[in-house]
Amino acid sequence: MRWQRATALVFAWLVAVCGATIAAEGSAWSDDACLVCHEDPKVTPILAGPHAPSAHASDAGCTACHGPSEAHMRRPPRGEQRAAPDVDFGRRTATPVERQNAACIDCHRGATTLHWWGSHHEMAGVGCADCHRAHAPRDPMLDSLTQVETCVGCHAKARADALKPSHHPMHDGRVACADCHGPHGGPGPGGLVEPTLNDTCLSCHADLRGPFLWEHPPAREDCLTCHRPHGSPHRALLAQRTPWLCQQCHMAQFHPSTALSGTGLPGATLPSGSQNLMGRDCMNCHAKVHGSNHPSGAGLTR
Ligand code: HEC
Ligand code: HEC
Ligand code: HEC
Ligand code: HEC
Ligand code: HEC
Ligand code: HEC
Ligand code: HEC
Ligand code: HEC
Ligand code: HEC
Ligand code: HEC
Repeated sequence: MRWQRATALVFAWLVAVCGATIAAEGSAWSDDACLVCHEDPKVTPILAGPHAPSAHASDAGCTACHGPSEAHMRRPPRGEQRAAPDVDFGRRTATPVERQNAACIDCHRGATTLHWWGSHHEMAGVGCADCHRAHAPRDPMLDSLTQVETCVGCHAKARADALKPSHHPMHDGRVACADCHGPHGGPGPGGLVEPTLNDTCLSCHADLRGPFLWEHPPAREDCLTCHRPHGSPHRALLAQRTPWLCQQCHMAQFHPSTALSGTGLPGATLPSGSQNLMGRDCMNCHAKVHGSNHPSGAGLTR
């Protein structure tokens, strides 16, 4: 009888020590230990993704993100609530966002989070889990349509801009927010994906890159002198109606020196004014506003 109890005690002690040792390493529980209670359609899709337990592509078991969560595993005293897991994700939880993010960055160092520190989102306390859904069958950020929806959920002005008559085709997923903005920050101004604003635009609009034989200085300098990035009530994402757009800088040139007005319209008395404001559009003649490679394209007309 006595030796039996002694063996049982030793066994219990062994279990406790081993358990504690594994726990100290942060992987105390197999995923099954968590899944006993969390076999839930909100949780299990993770088992089919890159964050599935060790048998799969990564060893990001439950505790890799949620922490060892020993208190959570303990049965709560009668009448009390179960303690939360060590790392509980989302905006409405007690875990500080820095701690949540650290759990992800633990594995995702390097290229992914290179520009994260000091980025708009990091500074504003936005969490990895505000954008990514670790348990969803498909992470919304990795699909351009659902990505745009998630971003405009917080950025109402961008949503409104993208609905203007002329816009980058974001609503149908052909262009995604992250094509221009590094969501984790980026090397360009304001976290753009390329080192400069123009490089960002020209990464897709390569035909306008130049260098041109005849440059138009504002196009070299900053595409946003004339364009809006998300959307505009004017055609071609223009920042202003033409010819005002051009006349902001070209009022006093040899033509046209009259602003668009009753007298400047075709059929009115001013001979050159009417012609040069024809169709309200300088581009009828100056078609190469981004620059020209034609030997006699100095006037950006061809
Ligand atoms: C004995 C059952 C049980 C086990 C085992 C268990 N949990 Fe839980 N867990 C719960 C219950 C019950 C809740 C809901 C608590 C509540 O809503 O207040 C919960 C909630 C959670 C939540 C959400 C907390 C929130 O804010 O809603 C997370 C995350 C979680 N558990 C992770 C884990 C992880 C990781 C493990 C394994 C290390 C684990 N759980 C093991 C019972 C368990
Ligand atoms: C890659 C990190 C990561 C891993 C691994 C992970 N989780 Fe989560 N868990 C999260 C994040 C982030 C959330 C917040 C909701 C979301 O993103 O889907 C969350 C939310 C939860 C919730 C709350 C779900 C809800 O919506 O109420 C539970 C419960 C949970 N996890 C349990 C688990 C269990 C059990 C495992 C292991 C099978 C696990 N988690 C593995 C990151 C992870
Ligand atoms: C234990 C390590 C580990 C942790 C912790 C971890 N990840 Fe991952 N994650 C991986 C691995 C491994 C992959 C698959 C390889 C890759 O894409 O780098 C991956 C892939 C991803 C992907 C790409 C998914 C895809 O389908 O291509 C995203 C997004 C991601 N993780 C976000 C997160 C977020 C958010 C967190 C925190 C809630 C997190 N990860 C925590 C290891 C981890
Ligand atoms: C503002 C939303 C947002 C936040 C916050 C965010 N991500 Fe992402 N993440 C994205 C988007 C969008 C992509 C897809 C990027 C692409 O298509 O170029 C992505 C891609 C990823 C990928 C897979 C591709 C890659 O670059 O490796 C990983 C891993 C990842 N994020 C991890 C994280 C981690 C870790 C954090 C927190 C430090 C985080 N993300 C915060 C939006 C976000
Ligand atoms: C959970 C809410 C949230 C989500 C989701 C989110 N953001 Fe943000 N974002 C913020 C906050 C907060 C700031 C900082 C305050 C501000 O400038 O509006 C910010 C700042 C920015 C800025 C800089 C704004 C400036 O004034 O210069 C850009 C660009 C941006 N986010 C793009 C994105 C993109 C792209 C996505 C999707 C991949 C995204 N955001 C998803 C909350 C969010
Ligand atoms: C074609 C490239 C491009 C796309 C696509 C794009 N942006 Fe922008 N975004 C920019 C540029 C360029 C700026 C202006 C940066 C500056 O002024 O320095 C900007 C500015 C912003 C700002 C700062 C405030 C503002 O409205 O001026 C936010 C927030 C923002 N973008 C969010 C988003 C979101 C959310 C999406 C997806 C719905 C998105 N952007 C898609 C290029 C883009
Ligand atoms: C990810 C690729 C991508 C990037 C980066 C990009 N664009 Fe675009 N842009 C497009 C696509 C796609 C269209 C639509 C073309 C079409 O419908 O045929 C477009 C259309 C346009 C149009 C014409 C819109 C119209 O209504 O005719 C303008 C102007 C424009 N982009 C300017 C810019 C500027 C300025 C930038 C930098 C802030 C930029 N683009 C960055 C892909 C991009
Ligand atoms: C001086 C003003 C101005 C600047 C600066 C400018 N654009 Fe334009 N852009 C225009 C005008 C005007 C149109 C409309 C042309 C038309 O309708 O005939 C246009 C049209 C476009 C289009 C639609 C397709 C096309 O080729 O006509 C794209 C794409 C475009 N611009 C991209 C850019 C990019 C990228 C930059 C920066 C490198 C830039 N623009 C700088 C005035 C400008
Ligand atoms: C931000 C100011 C600015 C805007 C807006 C602008 N331009 Fe220019 N433009 C310039 C500058 C600077 C030059 C170079 C003048 C020089 O070399 O003397 C130039 C040169 C030109 C030239 C060639 C002049 C020459 O000397 O041969 C033409 C044509 C022209 N612009 C047409 C336009 C048209 C059309 C628009 C409207 C789509 C426009 N510009 C918008 C600043 C601007
Ligand atoms: C009917 C055709 C036509 C229209 C419309 C037109 N232009 Fe011109 N513009 C010309 C021609 C032709 C030249 C001389 C080009 C050359 O030397 O190659 C010229 C020259 C210029 C020059 C260079 C002047 C210089 O000092 O050498 C500027 C700047 C200019 N136009 C701006 C504009 C602006 C701004 C508009 C719209 C308000 C406009 N043009 C509308 C035909 C036109």
